[in-house]
Amino acid sequence: MAQKSTAHRSSNPIPLPGKISVGMTVNGIETKAEIAPWVTLLDLLRDHLDLTGTKKGCDHGQCGACTVLLDGRRVNSCLALAVAQQDSQIVTIEGLAENLADGETLPPLQRSFIKHDAFQCGYCTPGQICSAVGMLREAEAGWPSAVSADLNADHVTLDDDEIRERMSGNLCRCAAYANIVPAIAEVLPIRSPDAERRSGSGVYPERSEWVGDRNKEVE
Ligand code: FES
Ligand code: FES
Repeated sequence: MAQKSTAHRSSNPIPLPGKISVGMTVNGIETKAEIAPWVTLLDLLRDHLDLTGTKKGCDHGQCGACTVLLDGRRVNSCLALAVAQQDSQIVTIEGLAENLADGETLPPLQRSFIKHDAFQCGYCTPGQICSAVGMLREAEAGWPSAVSADLNADHVTLDDDEIRERMSGNLCRCAAYANIVPAIAEVLPIRSPDAERRSGSGVYPERSEWVGDRNKEVE
């Protein structure tokens, strides 16, 4: 027979907060949602907007599977509360394919991941690609990394060590790193000696092709 609980219950419980209205632009579309204040941006995208390309791995900011672009910068969407994103510009993996050349269905970075076989299960791949777009913008803006030799240099050359370091927040459980680095290096507007050694010269993509123009400039 079930026992009666003797746990004390408050006779005057604090009421749960109600839902909050939030508006943002997601992949170029103005979007409004009524959500509880504890809903993360990741859960808003996946569960409320059906944008399931963004993946939930750890849900604790440890793996990068949930990376999206927030006002042009890469963020872990599992750590961002959706209600804090009023008037933000969000770009997910589904929003990267734009400004494509005739006959193309994927931007150069995504094609390069396929060409280099830069994934196995693919679970980390949307986060890897969104993170790479944000990372390329950071490098273009001259942001140094922990392995940059000159912290004040105007120009960053993204050799393999720089790419590895800058992408270190994105984990791949299948360990496809050996192919992820060359896939990113191949689309660089200015190729590093590492990338040249691997693939030789080729037609370099226009900047707008690999970052898309929905992503705001990094200030
Ligand atoms: Fe967000 Fe892992 S799911 S960092
Ligand atoms: Fe499987 Fe990266 S390809 S987790």
